[in-house]
Amino acid sequence: MTQRALYRPALVVLESPEAVAAEVAQRILRFVETRAHPVLGLATGRTPLAVYARLAAAHRAGTSFAAVESFNLDEYFGLGPAHPGAFACYMRRHFFEQVDMLAGHGHVPSGLGDPALEARAYEATIAAAGGIGLQLLGIGRNGHIGFNEPGSEFDSRTRIVTLDESTRRANAKDFPEGTEVPREAITMGIGTILEARRIVLVATGEAKSEALHAAFHRPPSRGCPASALQLHPRVELVCDVGAAQGLRL
Ligand code: F6R
Repeated sequence: MTQRALYRPALVVLESPEAVAAEVAQRILRFVETRAHPVLGLATGRTPLAVYARLAAAHRAGTSFAAVESFNLDEYFGLGPAHPGAFACYMRRHFFEQVDMLAGHGHVPSGLGDPALEARAYEATIAAAGGIGLQLLGIGRNGHIGFNEPGSEFDSRTRIVTLDESTRRANAKDFPEGTEVPREAITMGIGTILEARRIVLVATGEAKSEALHAAFHRPPSRGCPASALQLHPRVELVCDVGAAQGLRL
């Protein structure tokens, strides 16, 4: 690993997952309300569901998301946007259709077509939007960010990847009975994620505590993709007491 400055995240530990969701939603809302063209990077999974519910509630109470453009981290490869397991479907259901975002402004990488072309086009669309201002990020139990599994290069870009079996098992409950979790996905790279100007990493529950410990208390290494976040000067880690157990930041 070449010598680069290392940073510690700004840590906020809260009592409950609900308090974490409220805090993260507040940060996103402040960002959205104070910019002419807010560009968000967004995550799926269980952790951000309560954040999206709060953003939807804020919209019902008057906040507009009409100026927002967003870019999701990842999508399963081989699934069309209508598939119930697809992240495009999750995003429509939990966020895009709950707020007043303009059609075509909520980008999710396509799980269909030529992955190399799609990956290049996705990076170009992010650049054309002026880059990501605030990236919402979750963390996998194996330390993955996006679908950058252990072993991913820190300078990786949007590309097709093979999912770890542990990730496929963890996500199987999001798929209808009898359907398989795809083996591949398209994901923003670690290098792509690190270009976001600000990163809000959210983690709840004891099951995430080891991954957080590996991410922030060991030297950055490809074995823990989230440890690349030590290279970013503006990471805000918002977690509950369970997830924070192994942290002394
Ligand atoms: C989701 C994503 C993943 C999740 C991670 C945690 O778009 O990229 O990295 O953030 O797998 O998922 P949950 O929140 O379900 O534990």
